[in-house]
Amino acid sequence: MKIVAFGASTSSTSINKSLAAFAASLAKGAEVEILDLNDFEIPLFSEDAEMKLGQPQAAQEFLNKIKSADGVIVSFAEHNGSYTAAYKNLFDWASRIDQKVYQDKPTVFLATSPGAGGAGSVLAAAKASAPFFGVDLKAAVSVKSFYQAFDAETQSITDPVARAELESAVHHLTDTLRVAQ
Ligand SMILES: Cc1cc2nc3c(=O)[nH]c(=O)nc-3n(C[C@H](O)[C@H](O)[C@H](O)COP(=O)(O)O)c2cc1C
Repeated sequence: MKIVAFGASTSSTSINKSLAAFAASLAKGAEVEILDLNDFEIPLFSEDAEMKLGQPQAAQEFLNKIKSADGVIVSFAEHNGSYTAAYKNLFDWASRIDQKVYQDKPTVFLATSPGAGGAGSVLAAAKASAPFFGVDLKAAVSVKSFYQAFDAETQSITDPVARAELESAVHHLTDTLRVAQ
């Protein structure tokens, strides 16, 4: 069982990457690959750029990573209520190769921010559009006030409510995968 997980952010200190990695660690017995969006360097999308460049290798590689997974965990960073520009750009390029970017993979969507909103706006947007992009959404969890909920030393969520929600979401994902195997 392979889980591909990533934070939808290019911050070198991404709290969403940390959250995605922690959630993936809850998938006992799974092989886990954590992606770094910085590894998918790609120009700014425009239809003009697309005419010039076609299908950039980074977009195809991103799709290949999702293809290689049995299950996917994404944690969305929120910038001004929406996706980070870096994720949206990679996603836009990938969607031009295959609109089903998530290729019907069983998926958990997460989101976190330092504030009490817990990146709920971007999570709501991702959930609403999931059916259009081949996301087989198993669960969605927002973790509020990340720095209070997360213990940096152990790299784990210690807030009991958030932890229980994450465990439930990941178990839902892994149960689906075990049944499918
Ligand atoms: C341009 C910008 C806009 C932001 N907008 C929001 C926002 O709308 N809601 C929110 O909760 N946090 C917002 N933040 C704070 C982010 O949640 C915070 O930087 C977080 O660490 C981003 O996730 P990441 O560390 O995974 O990149 C914003 C940060 C930046 C730099």
